[in-house]
Amino acid sequence: MDTSDRAFITQTQSLAAQQPDVEAFFDDLVRRIQAHRPAWHWVGMYLLDGETLTLGPYVGAPTEHVEIPVGVGVCGTAVARNTNIIVDDVRAQDNYLACSLETRSEVVVLIRDQGEVIGQFDVDSDNVAEFDAGDTDFLEGLASVTATKARALRDHVARV
Ligand code: SME
Repeated sequence: MDTSDRAFITQTQSLAAQQPDVEAFFDDLVRRIQAHRPAWHWVGMYLLDGETLTLGPYVGAPTEHVEIPVGVGVCGTAVARNTNIIVDDVRAQDNYLACSLETRSEVVVLIRDQGEVIGQFDVDSDNVAEFDAGDTDFLEGLASVTATKARALRDHVARV
C-alpha cells in the first residue's frame, strides 16, 4: 500500500461521512477503485445475508453469479473460512466460479463490522498474479472505513 492508496482510503472515509445514500456511495466507490487501479478489471461487492452472498454494486462485465452460497467458489470459501483469499491463477483453482473467461487472478477481502462478516470486496484481473498483500491491506483499509455503511447496504439488500 503506497501513499496514494492511503490518500484514497482517507478520501473514502470523508465521502462516507458526506453521502447518506448507501447504494450511491458504493456504486461510486467501486468505480473509484477501478479508476484508481486500471488493471483491476472487475471490482464489486457481495453482501452476506444468512448463508448466501448477494451481488452488490460492481463495475466490469455482467456476472451470472448474482447469488453464491457460503462455501461455493472463491467468494463463498472466503466466508466459510473467515479469511481473505488471493488466487494468482484461477485456471489452477478448484471451486472457482468463472465470471469472465479473460479473468486470471482474483482477490476477496471480507468486510467486517463489529466482528460480524457483512460481505466482501471481490476483484478480478485479466493479469496473472495481479494481487499481493499490499492490495489486501488497501482493501481492508477500505472495508474498515466503510463497514458501517456496508451493514446498512446489506440490511437494505436483505429487506428487498
Ligand atoms: N470468481 C468468483 C465469483 C464471482 S465473479 O468472479 C464476479 C468465485 O469464484 O467465487
